Amino acid sequence: MRQHPRKSKARLQPQAIGCGVDVVELSVFRRALRRGGRAFLRRIFTAQEEAYARRRKRTMLLHLAGRFAAKEAVIKAMSQIDPKRLLAMNQIEVRNDGHGRPHIILHDRPRRRVTVHVSLSHVKSVAVASAIAIG
Ligand SMILES: CC(C)(COP(=O)(O)OP(=O)(O)OC[C@H]1O[C@@H](n2cnc3c(N)ncnc32)[C@H](O)[C@@H]1OP(=O)(O)O)[C@@H](O)C(=O)NCCC(=O)NCCS
Repeated sequence: MRQHPRKSKARLQPQAIGCGVDVVELSVFRRALRRGGRAFLRRIFTAQEEAYARRRKRTMLLHLAGRFAAKEAVIKAMSQIDPKRLLAMNQIEVRNDGHGRPHIILHDRPRRRVTVHVSLSHVKSVAVASAIAIG
């Protein structure tokens, strides 16, 4: 059977893949937060991300640091696919689904479709995140 020409072309196009990782030391992040205050929070996090962390009072800092690491990891992964797509930190949003699984929403006007996968982890003193971007 003959394939639709547009479909077969799409299948032949190679997918670009980028990856990124980042580690955040809690003590350093805490200092930055104290120094930067509300302006720092606004510049880095969306209202939803802040609310997610604030709901978890005891571990709030870890959730924020994890999101900070995730944003840095996403920027690294994205830069391998589209170095001209410059995202501000608060344009990269980490959301969690009903199972707690994180995913990324990009709040800019994309020139091309990119899907980003992310994974976060945190312990007492360190938060880490990795990201894979597929475009
Ligand atoms: C989901 C699970 C793996 C998370 O592990 P954890 O050590 O508590 O989590 P970490 O501290 O490393 O990372 C926390 C981050 O994981 C992410 N996360 C939470 N649930 C997740 C899930 N179901 N899938 C993927 N990521 C998840 C979140 O981003 C979270 O950070 P955030 O709340 O700030 O967004 C764990 O809770 C779990 O269910 N483990 C299953 C254990 C098990 O079944 N063992 C069987 C016997 S060995």
